Amino acid sequence: ALKDNTVIVVFGASGDLAKKKTYPALFGLYRNGYLPKDVHIVGYARTKMDTEEYYKRITSYIKIPDNDPAVAAKLDEFKKLSSYVSGGYEDAESFINLRKHFEDIEKKYVTRDVNRIFYLALPPSVFIPVAKNIKENCYSTRGINRIIVEKPFGKDLESCRSLLGALKQSWKEDETYRIDHYLGKEMVKNLLVLRFGNVAMNAAWDRNSIDNVQITFKEPFGTEGRGGYFDEFGIIRDILQNHLLQVLSILTMERPVSFSAEDIRDEKVCSAVNVVKVLRAIPPIKFEDTLLGQYVAANGKPGYLDDDSVPKNSVCPTFAATVLWIKNPRWDGVPFILKAGKALNEAKVEIRVQFKDVTDGIFADISRNELVVRIQPSEAVYLKLNTKTPGYSFRAIPTEMDLTYHRRFTDSTIPEAYEVLILDALKGDHSNFVRDDELDVAWKIFTPILHWIDGETAPRPMPYPYGSRGPFELDAFIRRYGYKRSTSEYNWPVMNVS
Ligand code: BG6
Repeated sequence: ALKDNTVIVVFGASGDLAKKKTYPALFGLYRNGYLPKDVHIVGYARTKMDTEEYYKRITSYIKIPDNDPAVAAKLDEFKKLSSYVSGGYEDAESFINLRKHFEDIEKKYVTRDVNRIFYLALPPSVFIPVAKNIKENCYSTRGINRIIVEKPFGKDLESCRSLLGALKQSWKEDETYRIDHYLGKEMVKNLLVLRFGNVAMNAAWDRNSIDNVQITFKEPFGTEGRGGYFDEFGIIRDILQNHLLQVLSILTMERPVSFSAEDIRDEKVCSAVNVVKVLRAIPPIKFEDTLLGQYVAANGKPGYLDDDSVPKNSVCPTFAATVLWIKNPRWDGVPFILKAGKALNEAKVEIRVQFKDVTDGIFADISRNELVVRIQPSEAVYLKLNTKTPGYSFRAIPTEMDLTYHRRFTDSTIPEAYEVLILDALKGDHSNFVRDDELDVAWKIFTPILHWIDGETAPRPMPYPYGSRGPFELDAFIRRYGYKRSTSEYNWPVMNVS
């Protein structure tokens, strides 16, 4: 349950993540009445700024639909329950000063508990000193304390272990909430219902029916403004090792033993255990199963290397396609192709499950069934299905059964992933956060290939033009793993993307 008397502290309040995601999510929750009673939000960062400047920054990404005066009034209220403190990340005095600020706010709570939620929207370099300083100087002794942390959780298996180890010195596992914001996305959460709530779906969910699976992330913009950060990590650490792997694990895990609507607690614990189990069946990625790319200038847009904060000879991949194999009886032999790229032709995240060919004999050229779960934009599930061409002909034609959310659920709004996750953390619900042992297995899968890419023998990524579908070699790469395009006559006349 939500705790009254809660202070939420956003570390890194002047940064990009706080401005773009954390504060808009906090406001979304406030506006809809989901923040605890008497909540107070404290921003903390090194930058010195006055309250006006602070308000300006934290609201710069908050949209007021149609200038609605009711929302504008809510935003004014929201500002009033927020204050700002500047200070260092490494020295104890700054944190003692922050504690005094809490105590001032909390005076009105004196007779009751005082709960503190610490949200670290910070670069990894200051992560550990901040976690330690909070524990030593700002920990509430009269209520609950929770720490919310964001990737990057290290750069490989070893650095992840040392980071998590250092964090564990000050924070217990049940106080720690590791965000992978893809776990807060509606369609990712929906996978459990689609899979385990539908016999028709579940019956075909294995190597006997499924030929190959693609999980794709496409962004239409480059690393503009984040080049320096990005170059240290690359697309595999930025997207594949966390977001796409989380999607893959929910897509492929076994049904949790006590998954039931009534017994939510069991559901959480068991689903987390199963996620780890399926990940442990994935061997490290092979170099030959990987295609890397880097975007170059095109159509008036700059190339990755044109960014001043990127080293001139960088071989950092901004695109990667790679194949994971799950060595268990359900999935043995099915390629799971993970693809992600920046500066591509469109914004899209989707899962595409392609089923096997129908046994030939009666059909000459018939398309494969495909189940597509579109995570964003415009959430949808659709199934490519062959049907008889209507009329006198007896030919099969590929069509689609379409569940596009904004058409089917016209009155529902889908909350932002960060809203869902912050609310879960406020309620103490760990089910959509990443457990420490999950990170360990995730890094085991990716570390060898990352070391190869970072090393002396690093392959040069294939160039692809800004705004294109990715490296030219991509189609041939996907075909190698069995993906077949629909027959040429397939087209979907209804525009399904809003
Ligand atoms: C972040 C990555 O984790 O996810 C960014 O660091 C990426 O590079 C972002 O742009 C994508 O998130 P979303 O929710 O817009 O798909």
